Amino acid sequence: MAAAFCLFGLLFPSVLSFGAAQGTSGHAYPLFEYETRSLTEEGLEKLLAGAGASDSASLFAFDDGTKANPGPSGPACKVFPGDAEWPAQNTWQTFDDLLGGALIETVPVAAPCYQNTGIYDAEKCAAVRDSFSNPYFHENDPTSIFWPLYQGRTCMVTDDPNSSNCTHGAFPVYAVNVSSVSQIQLAVNFARNANLRLVIKNTGHCYLGKSSGAGALSIWTHNLKNLEYHPDLEIPGYSGPAIKVGAGVTVREVYAEAERNDVSALGGICESVGYAGGYVTGGGHTPLSGLYGMAADHVMALEVVTADGHFITASPEENTDLYWALRGGGGGTFGVVTSIIIRVHPKLPVVTSTFTLSTSPTVSADAFWEAMYSYFSLFIPFTDAGTYSWFTLFSDTNGSHTFSMEPFFAPNHTLTSFTTLVEPWFAKLRALHIPFTPTTTAHPSFYAAYNATWGSNIGLNSAGRISVPSNRLLPRRNWEDPALFNATFAVLRRHASAGRLLMGYHQAPRNRAGVDNAVNSAWREAVCFLILSGRLPAGVTDPTAEQVRAASVDLQEEVIAPLREVAPESEGGGAYLNEANVDEPMWREAFYGVHYERLLEVKRAWDPREVFYATTAVGSEGWEVRDGEMGVQTQNGRLCRV
Ligand SMILES: Cc1cc2nc3c(=O)[nH]c(=O)nc-3n(C[C@H](O)[C@H](O)[C@H](O)COP(=O)(O)OP(=O)(O)OC[C@H]3O[C@@H](n4cnc5c(N)ncnc54)[C@H](O)[C@@H]3O)c2cc1C
Ligand SMILES: *[C@@H]1O[C@H](CO)[C@@H](O)[C@H](O)[C@H]1NC(C)=O
Ligand SMILES: *[C@@H]1O[C@H](CO)[C@@H](O)[C@H](O)[C@H]1NC(C)=O
Ligand SMILES: *[C@@H]1O[C@H](CO)[C@@H](O)[C@H](O)[C@H]1NC(C)=O
Ligand SMILES: *[C@@H]1O[C@H](CO)[C@@H](O)[C@H](O)[C@H]1NC(C)=O
Ligand SMILES: *[C@@H]1O[C@H](CO)[C@@H](O)[C@H](O)[C@H]1NC(C)=O
Ligand SMILES: *[C@@H]1O[C@H](CO)[C@@H](O)[C@H](O)[C@H]1NC(C)=O
Ligand SMILES: *[C@@H]1O[C@H](CO)[C@@H](O)[C@H](O)[C@H]1NC(C)=O
Repeated sequence: MAAAFCLFGLLFPSVLSFGAAQGTSGHAYPLFEYETRSLTEEGLEKLLAGAGASDSASLFAFDDGTKANPGPSGPACKVFPGDAEWPAQNTWQTFDDLLGGALIETVPVAAPCYQNTGIYDAEKCAAVRDSFSNPYFHENDPTSIFWPLYQGRTCMVTDDPNSSNCTHGAFPVYAVNVSSVSQIQLAVNFARNANLRLVIKNTGHCYLGKSSGAGALSIWTHNLKNLEYHPDLEIPGYSGPAIKVGAGVTVREVYAEAERNDVSALGGICESVGYAGGYVTGGGHTPLSGLYGMAADHVMALEVVTADGHFITASPEENTDLYWALRGGGGGTFGVVTSIIIRVHPKLPVVTSTFTLSTSPTVSADAFWEAMYSYFSLFIPFTDAGTYSWFTLFSDTNGSHTFSMEPFFAPNHTLTSFTTLVEPWFAKLRALHIPFTPTTTAHPSFYAAYNATWGSNIGLNSAGRISVPSNRLLPRRNWEDPALFNATFAVLRRHASAGRLLMGYHQAPRNRAGVDNAVNSAWREAVCFLILSGRLPAGVTDPTAEQVRAASVDLQEEVIAPLREVAPESEGGGAYLNEANVDEPMWREAFYGVHYERLLEVKRAWDPREVFYATTAVGSEGWEVRDGEMGVQTQNGRLCRV
C-alpha cells in the first residue's frame, strides 16, 4: 500500500527468516531462497509481536485443526466489500505490515480510460489499448486476465471516458505481490480466518477465468521467477537431470533453461503460459507428448502452501495423496504451489513440416474431403510414431475449404523416417492431384523447432479475446472401429462444412511414463484433441450478454453434443480442463474422467474449510458465483454456497 508500509516491512527481515527453521530442515528437496523464508507457529508469533499486531493473532493464525469446522452450515457466502464482516481498513494495514508492504490495492488495468476512476488519462489509455493483445502486458498486471469475458467486461478499453463507469467486476480487490513463501502463508491464513474469497493468479491465461474473482484477495505469483538446473539430482524416486521451476516461470523460460543445458523439457505451444501453475497442475499437453506423455507425468516433487497455512512437500514419499492430485487434478484447488521439480530429457532432433491444402478450380470439394479422410485415418500410425500436429480446417460460405498443417511435429525423427511415415498420406494427395508444397525442416533441438513454429506466432498468444472456447478429446477406439471412425469423421466434416473453424491436434500422450497421477483418463485414451468455440455474430467485438449466451448454447448443442455422441465420457471421451468451456454441464466426468471421486476425497482431506475455490474445480459443486446474466458463467459476483 503506502510507501511507509514498505519501509516498515523492511525492518523485520530477520523475523521472517527466523521462521524458516522448518523450511530448510524439514525438506528433502532443494528449496529456492524465497522458500527458505517460510513461517512456523513460533515464527508467526514473533512476526506479529514485532509488528505490534499480537492482538490480531487469530486473523493470521494457522489452522491447527482444533477449531470446529461448521462445513456446509458455515457462512452462506464469502465476505464481500461493503459487508459488515469485511475486514476494516486498519486490518488490511496490519496485513500489509506483516507482508512487508507487498499488498496491492488493485486498479483495473483499463482504469485510465474512464472519468469515474479519477485517474482518466488519454495517453495512458491509448497505451493500454496498444498493449491489450500482448499477453505479457496482462501477466505484468496484478489482476488483469487473458479472457476479459470472465471478469465481466466491467472496465474494457474505451474511447469514451464518460459513457460508462469502470468497476472492479471480477478483479480481486487486493493482491499480494509474492516474493516469499511466508507471504503466501499469511494470505492463506487471513483468507481462511476472515472468510475471504481467495484467488491465485499466475499469468491469468485461464480459459475459464479461474484466476479472477469478485471481492477476492489474490495471491499473485508472477514474480517467483527462479529457475535452477540440476544435472544430477538425487531425490527420493528419481536421480538424473532436473529443473526446479518457480511458480511464476513461463513455458518459454523453461524451454530456454533446458536448451542452455542441452536437455529437453515438456511444455505447451504458447510461450507466455505459466509453467508450474495452471499448466502442470491441469496436466499439460506438449508437442513431445508422443514420446513422454503429459508434462505432469514428469513432476517429481512440488512445494506447496496448504489450506491450513503450512508449507509442505508433495512427493512420492511425502503427502503422496496431494502429490497424486496436484499432477492433473487442476489449479487453484488443493493448495498454492510455490515451485516444482521436473525431470528433463535428452536433447533430441525434431522434423517439422508445414503446408496447406485447399479447394480450387482443379481441386473439388470431394477430393479435398478425401484428402482429409486420408489424414484423419492415419492418426493411429502417426501417434504410434510419437508425432503430433497442430492444424486448422476452415470452410468458407462460398464452398471453398482450406486445411493448414502448422506444423506436423515429429520429435526424434530424421527427414528419412518422417518421409516414410507420411508417404501413405502424401501418395494419396498426389493421386488426388492436390497440389501441396511442404516446408520440411530438420531441427537440432526441441527449442529450435519450437522457435521456428509457434515461437513467433503472435496470433496464438494474443490476449483480450472475446470468444467462448471449448475443446474435446477423442479416443483411439473411435479410430479402431471402422464404422465409428466414419461416424466421427462425418461429425468433423459437418462441423467444418457449417463454416465453423476446426482447430486441433493429432496427439496421444497415453501414460508413456507409467505413472499414477490425476491426469484426466480421457488424455490416456486420446489420439485427437480439438479446440472449438461458440459462434458470435460476425464482426461483433463487444457482444451483449444475449449474444454470449447464444454462442455458449450453440457451442454446447451444435458443437459439443455431436462430438459427445460419438465419443461419450463413458467410452473414453472428455475434455481438457485447462482449455474448456466454463458452462460444460458434465464437467466432473469430462474434465476429470475416472478420477473425480478420489480427487474429491483429497480435496476434503486437504481443504476441509474450503479456502480454495475455482469454477469447475474439484469440490466447486458446493458453491456458485452469483453473477447475474452475463451470458456465460463469469467470476463477477459473490461466491456463495449452493
Ligand atoms: C494461447 C494459449 C495456448 C495454450 N497452449 C497450451 C498447450 O499447448 N498445452 C497446454 O496444456 N495448455 C495450453 N494452454 C492452457 C494453459 O495451460 C492454461 O490456460 C493454464 O491454466 C494457464 O496457467 P497459468 O498459471 O499460466 O494461468 P492462470 O490463469 O494464472 O492460472 C490458471 C489456474 O491455475 C491456478 N494457479 C495458478 N498458479 C497456481 C499455483 N502456483 N498454485 C496453484 N494453483 C495455481 C489458478 O488459480 C487458476 O485456477 C494454452 C493457453 C493459452 C491461452
Ligand atoms: C467527460 O467529462 C468530463 C467532465 O466530467 C469533461 O471534462 C470531458 O470533456 C468529457 N469528455 C468527453 C470525451 O466527453
Ligand atoms: C457513473 O457513476 C456515477 C456515480 O454513481 C453516476 O452518477 C453516473 O450516472 C454513472 N455513469 C454512467 C454512464 O453510468
Ligand atoms: C512486486 O514486487 C517486486 C519485488 O519482488 C517488485 O519489483 C515489483 O515492482 C512489484 N510489483 C508491483 C506491481 O508492485
Ligand atoms: C472463397 O473464399 C475464400 C476466402 O475464404 C477465397 O480465398 C476464395 O477465393 C473464394 N472462392 C471463390 C470461388 O469465390
Ligand atoms: C530417439 O531415438 C534414438 C535413436 O534412434 C533412441 O535411442 C532413443 O531412445 C529415442 N528417444 C525416445 C525418447 O524415443
Ligand atoms: C529461440 O528464440 C529466442 C527468442 O527469440 C532466442 O533467444 C533463442 O536463442 C532461440 N533459440 C533457438 C535454439 O533457436
Ligand atoms: C467408411 O467410409 C469409407 C469412405 O467413405 C468407406 O469406403 C467405408 O466402406 C466405410 N466403412 C464403413 C465400415 O462404413
